[in-house]
Amino acid sequence: MCGIVGYVGKRNASEILVDGLRRMEYRGYDSAGVACLYNGHIGVVKNAGKIKALREKVDASQLVEIHQATMGIGHTRWATHGAPNEVNAHPHLDASGHFAMVHNGIIENYKEIKAGLSRHGIECVSETDSEALIQLIAYCYTDNLERAVSEALKKVKGTYGIVVMTDREPGKLVTARCGSPIVIGLGADETVIASDAAAIIPHTRDAMYLEDYDMAVVTGDGVQMFDLQHSPVNREITEMDWDAGSAEKGTHAHFMLKEMFEQPDAIRNAIRGRLDFDMGTSILSGLDLSPRDVAQIGRVLVVGCGTSMNAGMVGEYAIEEMAGIPAEVEQAAEFRYRNPIVTPHDLVVAISQSGETADTLAAVREAKHKGAVVAGLCNVVGSTIARETGRGVYLHAGPEIGVASTKAFTCQVAVMLMMALKLARGRRMPRHQGEELCQWIARLPELVEKVLLQNDAIKGISKKYADKENAFFIGRGYLYPVALEGALKLKEISYIHAEGYHAAELKHGPIALLQENTPIIALLNNIPGKEKTLGNAEECKARKAPVIAVVSEGDEATAEGFDDMIVVPDCPPCIAPIPTVVALQLLAYHIAAARGCEIDQPRNLAKSVTVE
Ligand code: M6R
Repeated sequence: MCGIVGYVGKRNASEILVDGLRRMEYRGYDSAGVACLYNGHIGVVKNAGKIKALREKVDASQLVEIHQATMGIGHTRWATHGAPNEVNAHPHLDASGHFAMVHNGIIENYKEIKAGLSRHGIECVSETDSEALIQLIAYCYTDNLERAVSEALKKVKGTYGIVVMTDREPGKLVTARCGSPIVIGLGADETVIASDAAAIIPHTRDAMYLEDYDMAVVTGDGVQMFDLQHSPVNREITEMDWDAGSAEKGTHAHFMLKEMFEQPDAIRNAIRGRLDFDMGTSILSGLDLSPRDVAQIGRVLVVGCGTSMNAGMVGEYAIEEMAGIPAEVEQAAEFRYRNPIVTPHDLVVAISQSGETADTLAAVREAKHKGAVVAGLCNVVGSTIARETGRGVYLHAGPEIGVASTKAFTCQVAVMLMMALKLARGRRMPRHQGEELCQWIARLPELVEKVLLQNDAIKGISKKYADKENAFFIGRGYLYPVALEGALKLKEISYIHAEGYHAAELKHGPIALLQENTPIIALLNNIPGKEKTLGNAEECKARKAPVIAVVSEGDEATAEGFDDMIVVPDCPPCIAPIPTVVALQLLAYHIAAARGCEIDQPRNLAKSVTVE
């Protein structure tokens, strides 16, 4: 969703700001802008549309502030309140033009604030909730920006990550957070603020993460942190482990393609040092679960959204099957609002690539409030869910920039399998079975490499289906969540209406939609239930729907009579989701590419959904 960047130092601010916004493009946005402070004046350039257009506008700008300033703020906006146009784009100025602010989040009581300001003759010019806040900050200002910010924030209901500056106090940025992430990167003679590490890593690896209700006064020399009552707070400086190159797409046509091909390495990183082959178990010390804790777990609840929830479903199956512990996966927003029964014997696992998804974070808070043991399974180090859970497992997949999640999914599944293994070995799984599973998990990178070798063949198949408008993915057992994930991938990047169904469920309704233009992607891997899914695929074929059969190596005969075949490595059921989903990712990618879609930034989508 929206991206924030702020810079104060000695270098040209507008260049750093625009570059930072470019690095956060993947989050999804529809307008962008920068404000720079130089020689006692604030100059603003903003536009509806892409960063490329903003960069051209910045280059062509006549404003001396834009070209000379060494401090400023920038923003990419994903419209919530008001259309994506120039007036609603950030940064917003107050009525006097002396204060500028960028904001992520939602000011829920903005109408009330606007009405109050109006009574003092202050009118907002945009339709946004955000402008109300900068007008309020300016109204609260006497002679100190941080005091004005904290006064204003005390009157606000909602969520915010903000950076504010005023020409009355040059050289100073004030930032604050409640619900929307803010990271401060500490460089030599310069400080960078951002909502996302991607905008900071080109400049420094030393970072401080704000927590809710923290405020910071930021200069080129460093940072002072306070709470809203102005009591000092200390936050650790942590080292960000991503390098700038890993957030660039290099020679690949799209980040999604790069990230699909990174999967063997990403999985290697996710499992490195975490498999104990001798004991046939996994070492996940971040979970902080003693053997006694493992023995006492009554139930595992997995919460997440989108792709993360699909990965959680594989985890649910693995935990029940291997450990014999009741497990359930639940959409995080549903979990949060339906008042679920949660006990101290429940282990709640929150899965989130970004670690910032609002619904998943709310579910974490609900579970903690109800006394469960809560663990995070996140990719972004230092993200809110990772910090608030305080225990869990990082994916170490590296930055995922493409909006369509690929390597995060396969690493999430790999980690869920290791978690299931740990719980199973602590409960009922004999050592030899654990050893065997360790061997299979260790082979995952090689299995994924085998699928990636079929890139050209899958591209060939994709051409036949690029003009379709509907598709169904069907699977059973461990392949049911893969069918859901395959359909999600296809719909989000190609805009083809795609549904993932349990193969048995198809004839309870959706079969009515089948005709010769509705392809079925049938997951017919060699796992229990294959014969039944084969029967379901035949039923589709009998209704003239073209069928792409995904089959296990050595079992190609299963695909006979169907229209196309994709072969994936033969492996145990719990392992199959990973190589199989890679084939579906490639299929979705090539179909979307053939349709000329904007693969890395699909319309309407944001990488990290930080509003409910
Ligand atoms: O960052 P998270 O894993 O919490 O994100 C959850 C979903 O928003 C995300 O997986 C989304 O479904 C992706 N666009 C799927 O490709």
